[in-house]
This record gives sequence, structure tokens and C-alpha cells, in this order.
Amino acid sequence: MKTSFFLVVAAALLVTGSVVEKRAAPVNQLVGYATLNGGTTGGAGGPTVTVTSLAALRSAVTGASPKIVQVSGIITGDGDTIDVGNHTTVIGVGSNSGVTGGGFRVKKGTNVIFRNLRLSKSPAPTDLIELQTSTNIWVDHNTFSSDLDHDKDFYDGQLDMNHGTDFVTVSWNVFTEHFKTSLVGGSDNTGDEDSGHLRVTYHHNLFSNVNSRTPSLRFGTAHIFSNSFQTIFDSAVDSRDGAQTLIEDNVFNNVSNPIETTLNGGFAVQRNNIFTATTLDPDLAVGTLTSVPYSYTTDAASSVASIVQASAGAGIVTSV
Ligand SMILES: *[C@@H]1O[C@H](CO)[C@@H](O)[C@H](O)[C@H]1NC(C)=O
Ligand SMILES: *[C@@H]1O[C@H](CO)[C@@H](O)[C@H](O)[C@H]1NC(C)=O
Repeated sequence: MKTSFFLVVAAALLVTGSVVEKRAAPVNQLVGYATLNGGTTGGAGGPTVTVTSLAALRSAVTGASPKIVQVSGIITGDGDTIDVGNHTTVIGVGSNSGVTGGGFRVKKGTNVIFRNLRLSKSPAPTDLIELQTSTNIWVDHNTFSSDLDHDKDFYDGQLDMNHGTDFVTVSWNVFTEHFKTSLVGGSDNTGDEDSGHLRVTYHHNLFSNVNSRTPSLRFGTAHIFSNSFQTIFDSAVDSRDGAQTLIEDNVFNNVSNPIETTLNGGFAVQRNNIFTATTLDPDLAVGTLTSVPYSYTTDAASSVASIVQASAGAGIVTSV
């Protein structure tokens, strides 16, 4: 009786929005900007197909009807994009499925989920995932990796968003061994398309052993909570060109320039973060993003490193 009353109250609090709870965040639930604008369901309700070749994968993800595409094993790409149609879930089977040597693109699309994929080593100009002029995308529980043996421009982005993309959630991913990790807003000249868009939530991701852009954000709005930043060589969150960021309950350890606002006037509100073996810029330009239009659960910064280590990346959530 007491329990069910508590649950009702908790549920009521959760749907009122802008309520921030601190407890163990659910590992398998969409929160953040991708819940807005009608929500993000991917291929829910559509047929499931399993693919093991690049040709079959390319064909399976096209078209605008709902579909769930299971990738079985690591498929070797041809360096070109794999273009994903509307209302699609792309999910890896088990703990070692995905794509190497190529990447996915959603262009002028909507309602796509990428989950449980190992994505690696896509030579420029193809990103591992690129979201272009697209809405309602959820990137969840993937492992993005490259290597640091090449020039910083040899591989392209691990997860880039541009040309007015909007309503994206990036949760529980591992980003590692890479130079230019996640670029949001591709150019200083695209303010007309990007201002008022590029709304992205990053939560419970592990950024480890990467050079920069975790993320770099131009013009957009990013809510960055309960992420673990471990060994970033050059800079981590780079808010520029008027971008607004709310950065809370993260841990930054051994990170060069954890938060920057110096390029063309970016903004940041940071609170409840833990900074170790790093120096925070004392002159951050404080912005206006102090709340977001959805409810969410943070994990306290003190527990984020271990929670994210245990539950981020491929091989954790293997069903749609
Ligand atoms: C996919 O969705 C976008 C955004 O709603 C729409 O503009 C586009 O026409 C859709 N594509 C197809 C092939 O239906
Ligand atoms: C800290 O980061 C530097 C690179 O910026 C790296 O060489 C070093 O190994 C890291 N230290 C630890 C303890 O991880």
C-alpha cells in the first residue's frame, strides 16, 4: 500500500517535467530532447530483418516504413555512407556487431534509433554517424572507436550533427581512441539553419582517450549530464557561436580544457560537476540554459564514473 502510493507520487512527479531527481538513472529508457517533438520510436511496430552483409544492410535501412534492422556480426563498409530512412531502428545482435570502415547517415529524415552497435574506423569524409537536417534521433549504447595512429583528419567524426538537425538524445555510449569526436554544427556560416535547432541531450556517455569535441557545439542547445570524461587531450565541451549548454553532474578527470566558451561567444552553465587533474576556465561565459523542457534523472558526479563504466557501450542492452 505504501509502496504503490509512493510509485503513484513518483510517476506524477516524473510527468510534470523539469523535475530533476537524483537516484540511479534507468539504463534502458529514452530521456532528453529526443522525447520531444512527438518522441522517438524508431522502427517500433514494423517487421524485423537480420542482415550480415553490407548490401543487405544498405537495402534494409532504406525506405520510410517502420522497420527494425538487426546487424549480426561486424560488417565491413566501403567508406561510403549507409543512408538510413525514416522510422528505423538499427540494432546490433549480441555484444560484437556493427560496422567498420564506413558509417551511417540520416539525411532529411526522422525517427531513427541506433543501438548496441560497435562502430569503428571510418576514413574521412564519412562519419561513423552523421545526422543532417534530421529530427528525433536516439543514439544509445553504442561503442565508437578508431585509433590514434593516423593524422587527426584521417578519420572523420564519430557522431556529427549539422544543417538544422534537432531533437537528439545521445545516451550510454562509449567514445574512445579518436581525435574529433562529436561535432554539432558543422560551420560558423550555418547560423541561419542551425540557430534555434541542434537541441541535443548527452547523458551517461564515456568519453575516454579522445582529443576533442565531446561535443563541440555551434549555435545549438546541449544538455550534458552524468557523463564520464576520462583523459581528453585537447578540449572536452566546446560551446561556441552562441551555443547554450547546461553541464551538470559530470566527472572530468585528466581532461585538458574541460569546458570552453571562447570561440565566437559560446555559453555554459555548469553545476555539480567534479573536476580532477584538470583546470576549469575561471572566466566561462555563463549562459541562460538553466533548465530543460523534460524531466530527467541525474546520477551524482561522484558515482558517474563507475556507473558509466559498467553500463555504457555495446553489449549491455541487446533488445529494442
Ligand atoms: C522522412 O521524414 C522527413 C521529415 O518528416 C520528410 O521530410 C521526408 O519526406 C520523409 N521521407 C520519406 C521518404 O518519406
Ligand atoms: C592524462 O592524459 C595524458 C594526455 O593528455 C596522458 O598522456 C596520460 O597518460 C593521462 N594520465 C592518466 C593517469 O591517465
